[in-house]
Amino acid sequence: MERLQFINKSVLIAAAVCLCGIGINSCTMITGVSNTPVAMENSYSRTGNEVIVKLASIPSLANVGGSVKFILANGNDKPLKIIIARSGTDDYCIFADRCTHGGRELTYIHEDKIMRCTSFCHSKFDMQGNVVGGPAPTALKRYEFELKDNELHFNVE
Ligand code: FES
Repeated sequence: MERLQFINKSVLIAAAVCLCGIGINSCTMITGVSNTPVAMENSYSRTGNEVIVKLASIPSLANVGGSVKFILANGNDKPLKIIIARSGTDDYCIFADRCTHGGRELTYIHEDKIMRCTSFCHSKFDMQGNVVGGPAPTALKRYEFELKDNELHFNVE
């Protein structure tokens, strides 16, 4: 990285940290897109509010510690972004992929068993969705599910 690029990046990070510190939502200025793998469209389906995820069709959930994201159409409302993490052999967590601070995407950090916001403020959430760090004001939307026949079934209502 050249010196000027480094200085520009450092100034941007410092500004974001300062704004977070004084309660201004700098996250709205900063793109927060995760590198979580995207599920193939044929690996999930939605009928009404019921969503079915075919685990056999999602390689990134084959091993504990993996995660996947996808977007569900939502009628005339904003599309629903979903993230699923495999936190144990038969343990999965399904969340709305939207930080409650500024709406940025999340990343699953298996080593710490947390969901972390991709924005600079890095809000953190435990696997129940509760805030455990950062400026996020409320818990994540968490979806309860049933695991049957190697499929996750959950309701987005
Ligand atoms: S959007 Fe600001 S911490 Fe997540």
